[in-house]
Amino acid sequence: MSERWSPQSWRSKPIQQVPEYRDQALLQQVEERLASYPPLVFAGEARQLKRDLADVAAGKAFLLQGGDCAESFEDFRPNIIRDTFRVLLQMAVVLTFGGQTPVVKVGRIAGQYAKPRSSNVEKIGDIELPAYRGDIINGYAFDAVSREPDPARLETAYFHSASKLNLLRAFAQGGYADLHKVHQWTLKFFEDSPEAKKYEELANQLDQTLAFMQACGLNATTAPQIRETDFYTSHEALLLGYEQALTRVDSTSGNWYDCSAHFLWIGDRTRQPDHAHVEFLRGVHNPLGLKCGPSLTDEDLIRLVNTLNPANEPGRLTLIVRMGYDKVDDNLPRLIRTVQREGFNVVWSCDPMHGNTIKSATGYKTRPLERILHEVKRFMAVHQAEGTYAGGVHLELTGQEVTECLGGAANAVTEGSLSDRYHTYCDPRLNAAQALELSFELADWLKQARSAQQAAAAAAQ
Ligand code: PEP
Ligand code: CO
Repeated sequence: MSERWSPQSWRSKPIQQVPEYRDQALLQQVEERLASYPPLVFAGEARQLKRDLADVAAGKAFLLQGGDCAESFEDFRPNIIRDTFRVLLQMAVVLTFGGQTPVVKVGRIAGQYAKPRSSNVEKIGDIELPAYRGDIINGYAFDAVSREPDPARLETAYFHSASKLNLLRAFAQGGYADLHKVHQWTLKFFEDSPEAKKYEELANQLDQTLAFMQACGLNATTAPQIRETDFYTSHEALLLGYEQALTRVDSTSGNWYDCSAHFLWIGDRTRQPDHAHVEFLRGVHNPLGLKCGPSLTDEDLIRLVNTLNPANEPGRLTLIVRMGYDKVDDNLPRLIRTVQREGFNVVWSCDPMHGNTIKSATGYKTRPLERILHEVKRFMAVHQAEGTYAGGVHLELTGQEVTECLGGAANAVTEGSLSDRYHTYCDPRLNAAQALELSFELADWLKQARSAQQAAAAAAQ
């Protein structure tokens, strides 16, 4: 059977992507302090998310996960947090109303500070420095002082996360997410776009529906879901010293939970079955994600699922598939068939971002929206062909009017305009209009998939 797990058992395993801290004693002090601080989330909330994800696994709901590629200490501002939350809410309304499915909302937020890198160093001209690894580790500025890993950053990340979470909870529960306010969620800068018009139409229909429900006696008092929403947090569990420090025994169940976020995922670069990241996450009871890129073999997938979800619980594990628009058809069918053959209970989610990163002619890391849409569409089509449920999407997006991904129906971003507002600390994100465009397409595909399912069920009777 498997070896004994403890919050530090990962420390004796091989590990990828570790920063080299010069002052190990200071690092240990900071980790010890963090271990004495209050948890950021409560285990009962993580259990609720697991139940919500079990509904997704059963085809009864849809998972919407999104936010920055890398949060930064610099962007610690209420409007930026609000705008990301607002785009996710808008997308959720489009998917719930248009796609006719309940939506489980999970932000890549309040903790998404550590980044895996393909190279340990970055070179500009003749100068070579350690790569930027996310604000929880080192600074973005290209100078030796910033790039030095600094243990104090773990504590800053913790306090930023706590404060962001506080605001997000207030937004979700305190009236901002009230469905009567869908009109007010519109972001000023794309008011004239086709997406904004479509959104306005949908909001009008929603108003009528709410008025009808009110007339039937269904209001915010009888149905609190009208006034408030559940919003969960997530990030890549990369910096394991930080994650360990926030891992606590839940007094209700006696189980370990990583209380840095509700949902944690393992990145495509750190999913070696016998290495530290898998070891750490197998022992915490939060719902987990596993990034599945083209190099994931069927054998490794089986090992990983058995290790991370030995009891085969629905909602425990989400497979986040990130193939690239031209590799979905080559790889997804085999992964789905392996999962089906083994009888694994998983949520299938599509990350159409990380397999579609290219370099623009002008040297920017970018992603064409067309390819992102294409990957989602193929993901849905393959699931339909295999008779399985395409349960969610995992996106990098922001509520800011950035120009990082190419294309879009409204104010299309071009090679020439990438430099206008290219602000990301890591990968290119969808701006609000692009994110909304994707959600309208997605709602149509979800509706089609549901009708096809119903037609098949009717024909089988
Ligand atoms: C990410 O989600 O930002 C990321 C690095 O993804 P992946 O591990 O799939 O490359
Ligand atoms: Co990214």
